Amino acid sequence: MDCSYRVRIGSKAICFCDRVVEASSLLTMFERGSTFPKAIYGPEGCGKTTLLKYLVHRVSEVDSAIAVYIDALKGNDPAEAVFSSVRATYEVASAIAVELPIGMALAEKVLQLFKRLHERISLRGKKVLLVVDDVYRAIGLESAERYTKSMYE
Ligand SMILES: Nc1ncnc2c1ncn2[C@@H]1O[C@H](COP(=O)(O)OP(=O)(O)OP(=O)(O)O)[C@@H](O)[C@H]1O
Ligand SMILES: [Mg+2]
Repeated sequence: MDCSYRVRIGSKAICFCDRVVEASSLLTMFERGSTFPKAIYGPEGCGKTTLLKYLVHRVSEVDSAIAVYIDALKGNDPAEAVFSSVRATYEVASAIAVELPIGMALAEKVLQLFKRLHERISLRGKKVLLVVDDVYRAIGLESAERYTKSMYE
C-alpha cells in the first residue's frame, strides 16, 4: 500500500494498493529507458488508469524526469485532458489542442507537444514518460496500428 498516492472514490480518498509487481516493473522499464511504446490492456475497471496515474506520480518525483499524462477521452477541458510534472506543458497543450475533443487532439499531436515543450525547456538529458490513456478507445481499434507505429517513430 502506498498512501503517498490516494485514489478518490466519491468523497473518500483511499491509499493506492497492491500493484507492487506491476508498478515496479513499469518503473524499472522507465529507468532503463525504452524506444518501444508499451500498450497496457485489461478488462474494464481493472485499474489501468489508476496504475498509470500512479506511475506518473512516481516519475514526477524524479529529478530530471518529465511525466506527461493525456486522457484521450476527455473532450472539453484541457485541465482534465492533460496532467504534467512540468508547468510549461499546460501552456503548450492549450496552444496546440485548439480543436475538440481536446484529449484526442493532444494524443494525435504528441510529437508537436514535445517539440514545442523542448523549445520552452530543454529535454536534453531528461527521461520522458508519456502516457496516453484510453487512446485506442478514442481513435478506434482500426487506427491502433497506425498510432502505435507513429509513437515508435
Ligand atoms: N491500485 C489501486 N488502489 C486502489 N484503488 C484502485 C486501484 N486500482 C483501481 N482502483 C479503483 O478501481 C477503480 C477503477 O480503476 P480504473 O479507473 O483505474 O480502471 P480502468 O482499468 O482504467 O477502467 P476503464 O477500463 O474503465 O478505463 C478506480 O476508480 C479506483 O477506485
Ligand atoms: Mg481507464
